[in-house]
Amino acid sequence: MKIQAKASKNYQLKTDCLVIALKPLKKISSQCAELNTLTGGAIARLQDSGQFSAACGDMVNLMVPEGVGATQIILLGVGDKKLDTESVREVLTSLAIKLKSLKVDEATFELDALNVKSNVETVSRHLAEALGDAEYQYIKTPKSARGNTANKEFKATLWCQDRKMLSTAKKAAAIGNAINNGKTLAKDLGNMPGNVCTPSYLASQAKKLGKSHGLKVKVLNEKDMAELGMGSLLSVSKGSREPAKLIVMEYKGAKSSKEAPHALVGKGLTFDAGGISLKPGAKMDEMKYDMCGSASVFGAILAAAEMQLPINIVGVIPSSENLPDGLANKPGDVVTSMSGQTIEILNTDAEGRLLLCDALTYTKRFKPQTVIDIATLTGAVIVALGHQTAGVMGNDQDVVDDLIAAGDESLDHAWQLPIKETYKKQLKSDYADLANLGTPGAGTITAACFLSYFTEDFRWAHLDIAGTAWGGAAGKRASGRAVPILTQYLMDRCK
Ligand code: BES
Ligand code: MN
Ligand code: ZN
Repeated sequence: MKIQAKASKNYQLKTDCLVIALKPLKKISSQCAELNTLTGGAIARLQDSGQFSAACGDMVNLMVPEGVGATQIILLGVGDKKLDTESVREVLTSLAIKLKSLKVDEATFELDALNVKSNVETVSRHLAEALGDAEYQYIKTPKSARGNTANKEFKATLWCQDRKMLSTAKKAAAIGNAINNGKTLAKDLGNMPGNVCTPSYLASQAKKLGKSHGLKVKVLNEKDMAELGMGSLLSVSKGSREPAKLIVMEYKGAKSSKEAPHALVGKGLTFDAGGISLKPGAKMDEMKYDMCGSASVFGAILAAAEMQLPINIVGVIPSSENLPDGLANKPGDVVTSMSGQTIEILNTDAEGRLLLCDALTYTKRFKPQTVIDIATLTGAVIVALGHQTAGVMGNDQDVVDDLIAAGDESLDHAWQLPIKETYKKQLKSDYADLANLGTPGAGTITAACFLSYFTEDFRWAHLDIAGTAWGGAAGKRASGRAVPILTQYLMDRCK
């Protein structure tokens, strides 16, 4: 998407669609007196007739008068209350969907009614995201023999009168655009079928991103991982013919390349059939989304690189398939992780933690300031929080609080669940240091407790995005989450 901010406010401006935001004042027309005059009083008549009250989310098409350069005009009601971020986004989402249904791919937004000072930032940023979500098209693989046709790139112009507002709008739109680009990358990777998006494919995409955005990228193969003693990670991939990869992407934006990085560790199961503890057939196709944690690491690093954030970031992605096979893990198998801790695999479908534990141990070598892991880890988080909110847990309350705040700011919400000794006890095993499965109940928490045994050397938080990365009202579509919360978290580390 192209998004720009312009200061001049001239109705002769050529645009496919001009959007005017209005409040339900006694005289709506007074907010856009010039346009009302140009339309021969049509705006005033719309209000008087009761056809347009400017209630929040109301939209109406206006006849385009002589002297106005737009092909069509949409009046957008924003209500009379000061809108919070959530409501601003809601209004912009309905607007974006309307534009999509009208097949508009170029529009100018005169959003002064929404823009009241502090809001200009929110509006500019979330307009980019709302348009991005509405315009998103999955075309990475052909839907039919005829192939796909890509829609035209959307071009948005923000109209602002005063200079200060203009520069704020520009900056915020650039942030929204960067987050949107990160989300689009995460959606594309997530929506790709498992036979295309394999661990090797993710590795090739990391190299591609490295080239285009100046990242240092390293891909460890199974032999490298064996030398490091990643017995837990490799126990999952030996049940699959696709070789596992450990992908490392380093973004260096800080003044000193030696400054301690923030680490993002993303679960990259390109397909999770459950292994010998096979999943039921219904909805198993959705387990191609089990790499959405890694996809959000790609997306957040892309957004950070586009914004040239002045910090260092390292992305670590353990990637594999989890399939049933003659060589696959069996319930009761015992493996040794890179940390030296032994693990009894009681359920081969709890594979995410088996990969993450070795990736987390590996991350120690970067001496990170903080470590966030992001994973579609448990079905239980959907029971607890639905498709709206991600679960967050950690060993450092400040990191957890920072993530929750970043989620609220970016509208990619997360909510904390407790890690406590009483849950940790559920992971006791008769045959190893740890079982990969807790006793029944609190599955999201026991999964995080398992990870906590591998994160004792750094400040860490874990995001369970099994509910938010796809599904819910959107159906079988990747959402691009957790790109917004991660990007905001990284932005907040720049202060
Ligand atoms: N990838 C799944 C989690 C998942 C399940 C995400 C359903 C979204 C929808 C994960 O690997 C898994 O299978 N977890 C098990 C853990 C259990 C065996 C302790 C689960 O949640 O059922
Ligand atoms: Mn699983
Ligand atoms: Zn999984």
